[in-house]
Amino acid sequence: MDHNKLALPVGTTLDRFIMRKQEDFPYATGELSQLLRDIALAAKIVNREINRSGLIDIAGAYGSQNVQGEDQQKLDVIANIRFIRALRNGGEVCTIISEEDEEMIQTGNNQGKYVVAIDPLDGSSNIDVNVSIGTIFSIYRRVSPTGTEGTERDCLQTGTHQVAAGYVIYGSSTMLVYTTGNGVNGFTYEASLGEFFLSHPHITTPKTGAIYSINEGSSDHFSEGTTAFVAYCKQQNYSARYIGSLVADFHRNLLKGGIYMYPATKKAPKGKLRLMYECNSLAFIVEQAGGKSSDGRNRTMELEPKGMHERSPLFIGSTELVEKAEEFLAAEYSDVVAAL
Ligand code: AHG
Ligand code: MN
Ligand code: MN
Repeated sequence: MDHNKLALPVGTTLDRFIMRKQEDFPYATGELSQLLRDIALAAKIVNREINRSGLIDIAGAYGSQNVQGEDQQKLDVIANIRFIRALRNGGEVCTIISEEDEEMIQTGNNQGKYVVAIDPLDGSSNIDVNVSIGTIFSIYRRVSPTGTEGTERDCLQTGTHQVAAGYVIYGSSTMLVYTTGNGVNGFTYEASLGEFFLSHPHITTPKTGAIYSINEGSSDHFSEGTTAFVAYCKQQNYSARYIGSLVADFHRNLLKGGIYMYPATKKAPKGKLRLMYECNSLAFIVEQAGGKSSDGRNRTMELEPKGMHERSPLFIGSTELVEKAEEFLAAEYSDVVAAL
């Protein structure tokens, strides 16, 4: 057995890693570093709640709906509170967009230079059944002057303006994966020590893969292009893998190679997933890992957001597979243009 191989990954704590990275930028003031640490702290707390959820009364529905008209689970609400509290206490963030809140949240820290978009708990339908769930976030630098409240313009920047993005997967182990635009690194949580340790340095995603992930239960509502691409995946003998938690499906495909799709359907012409705190965040990560993300035609990160909770179709993963899907979809886009 190669003992070095086992010993190597556990070495650098997330805190030290963030500090080292900050030293690469001589004029960095440390605020972004602190903000990432705030998110990691909230993730640890949420992880604890999730681990205990079968034992205490926090599983199940909360009895209300969020802005998208979806039933909120108790853990959706708890995770939202935890992340907002950590970001508010940290002081670096002026404004937050959360899946669980219709309006932007002013933290009261008007000196804060950053805006965060967050899906506090992703994969709500899997909470009660012990299946991997996650948190997804994007960080932007505000464009309005400091000293005032954040504005809609701060919140509606294209994904190309992200300064950092990441996700936490609460799975068979809990991991934090993030990028600040200089590659992607993954950290595994060691609960007895209360620390995230670098375990997946410089994640790169395979150029191609043999996994396709889509909810085929909706196939009656797929467009012709999507239907044809799914048929192509089957002809290629790709494996179908669909957990139903975007974070978990994305994480698997990132490491193994593959494509995740949440297409536009006849019922939902813009798909289901939210541009600001699902699609853009993962698009930044996949691109930094050498992969690709689009709405079937346009690069996700260049889509102009019109609303904080806007949806977008999502085709994300290995470059070759996303490009192949775009080929299948190109015909229908030209049909749409021809019909105009
Ligand atoms: P959320 O729990 O944050 O509302 O997100 C759920 C999303 C995403 O995690 C998942 O990939 C997708 O919904 C699953 O939707 P379907 O059940 O329609 O496949
Ligand atoms: Mn989600
Ligand atoms: Mn959610």
